[in-house]
Amino acid sequence: MKFSISNPFTEDMAVDLGTVHTFIFARGRGMVVNEPSLVAVDRESGEIVAAGQEALEMLGRSPEDVEVAYPMRDGVIADSELAQRMLGKFLRKARGGRARFSRRIILSVPSGITSVEQFAIRELVNGIGVSRVYLVEEGLAAALGAGLPVDEMRASMVIDIGGGTTSIAVIANAGIVESETLRIGGLDMDTAITDYIKKRHRILIGERTAERLKMVLGSASDPLDDHKSVAKGQSVSKDGPEVTEVSAVEIHEAIDAIIRQIIEAVRQVLERLPPEVASDVDDGGVVLTGGIALLAGMDARISAETRLKVTVAESPRQSVGQGLIALYEKPLLLRHVTRNMGL
Ligand SMILES: Nc1ncnc2c1ncn2[C@@H]1O[C@H](COP(=O)(O)OP(=O)(O)OP(=O)(O)O)[C@@H](O)[C@H]1O
Ligand SMILES: [Mg+2]
Repeated sequence: MKFSISNPFTEDMAVDLGTVHTFIFARGRGMVVNEPSLVAVDRESGEIVAAGQEALEMLGRSPEDVEVAYPMRDGVIADSELAQRMLGKFLRKARGGRARFSRRIILSVPSGITSVEQFAIRELVNGIGVSRVYLVEEGLAAALGAGLPVDEMRASMVIDIGGGTTSIAVIANAGIVESETLRIGGLDMDTAITDYIKKRHRILIGERTAERLKMVLGSASDPLDDHKSVAKGQSVSKDGPEVTEVSAVEIHEAIDAIIRQIIEAVRQVLERLPPEVASDVDDGGVVLTGGIALLAGMDARISAETRLKVTVAESPRQSVGQGLIALYEKPLLLRHVTRNMGL
């Protein structure tokens, strides 16, 4: 039997407040929140009528007096009030109605965010009544969660591709040796698909349809010719709904420019590496995390274009959160990685 010496009324939490999805882990309990980063707001009163999965179900079919919004954009806060209320709701859910409060919270942020953006995220969490907030760079958390040896001399590389950001990081000695953050991700692929279907099929599809097409047909490598799916939307030229058939080749064409941008950024990071570090990365390869690690052929495409060995983390969407919660068991590393952020 395991005894806990911690105060039963406080609990340490880790929050991956992503652009598209939020995961919260509680120390000793594992994942406690797994919800889309969405809120549904009553236009009239400004009240939040739903958050997370419940708000997602309203997306695209919400009544006129309800607006569904993402409080986060490109990995940072887009609307601080909505973000705070959404996180407040998620933390209440994480506590499961128990009389706990969170003494400490570790949150991930993209590398290279401005001091204003850092301040905003601290304010947001402080406003929820948390006494200690630690900010950790997303790339480092992803590497730790994916099981890479972040505190060893040997360098390792991780690419986290989420909904709004792509974090490319090379890590050694518990620090980031080289990194690049692009404010692009899966949401931009969805937009590219929407634009493509509008142009080629003259149909305006919704966000959820675009995401579904990306998931079922999308491929970063050569797609299968005969793979097709039906998409429904609003006709551009005439009133009313219309249905069209979309192929995997088309989806590949629509998202390819975004994949190229990501690969170009990976190449730039590789070019900047000192020789010993480059040789470590050559030996160890790259680990992919984030939702876009699950896009078909993403690993193969990066591997083909960089000649590196590429593997997908075991639960790529949870890697960041798993890395954050693991930091509580490594206090020296936690102190080190937060100090490195100048916090
Ligand atoms: N099986 C899948 N195939 C393709 N794409 C997927 C799959 N599963 C999730 N995605 C995409 O991954 C993206 C979300 O990834 P993730 O949850 O890592 O983002 P996030 O952490 O919220 O965003 P960010 O880290 O950029 O702030 C979405 O665009 C989603 O459509
Ligand atoms: Mg993320």
